[in-house]
Amino acid sequence: MSEHTDGLVLRPPTLADGAAIHHLVQRTGVLDVNSCYLYLLLCQEFADTCIVAEEDQHLVGFVTGLRPPKRPYSLFLWQVGVDPNAQGRGLGKRLVRAFLEAPGMGDVTTLETTISPSNEASQRLFHAIAGEYGATISKSPYFLEDHFPAGHEAEELYRIAPLR
Ligand SMILES: CC(C)(COP(=O)(O)OP(=O)(O)OC[C@H]1O[C@@H](n2cnc3c(N)ncnc32)[C@H](O)[C@@H]1OP(=O)(O)O)[C@@H](O)C(=O)NCCC(=O)NCCS
Repeated sequence: MSEHTDGLVLRPPTLADGAAIHHLVQRTGVLDVNSCYLYLLLCQEFADTCIVAEEDQHLVGFVTGLRPPKRPYSLFLWQVGVDPNAQGRGLGKRLVRAFLEAPGMGDVTTLETTISPSNEASQRLFHAIAGEYGATISKSPYFLEDHFPAGHEAEELYRIAPLR
């Protein structure tokens, strides 16, 4: 856990955070809203590769991820979200930095995430992180529009490496 001078606490989640993460995902209005069960499962079984941000004991941001079983040197960032009232203040970057130092980081060399073509904020966020780490971004198709029911954009895989 790290507590900052501005009162922000960044820490791995506990089971008690699951419902608040689910609620924050809904508030972003952009992220795919999964079931509350899934966020509880992440908090219970994948907490070592997730981070939450708390301000005055309220959840204001989170990042969830996992180590893909087939790519042991990768850390896959699944969703990152910042409360709409707290966006644009650098919290997204702080969350991703904390994620890259999470207890489950191990000997990871590559950050992976998927981004849809219209999500400019997310693209900017990961370009900024790659720049900070002196890493290169390689993009490739991941989930195509046809894989989803109608109305969902494609998701492109961003691989950011090497992480130093
Ligand atoms: C994406 C998100 C997490 C970024 O968090 P944030 O706290 O607002 O981001 P930061 O303040 O750390 O800024 C990160 C970079 O993104 C840029 N950025 C932030 N919001 C932006 C916006 N709406 N449009 C364009 N760029 C934006 C910032 O300028 C910064 O780039 P820079 O370092 O080159 O100046 C946040 O906008 C969010 O929760 N969006 C909804 C959920 C989502 O889309 N998640 C990502 C997909 S999993």
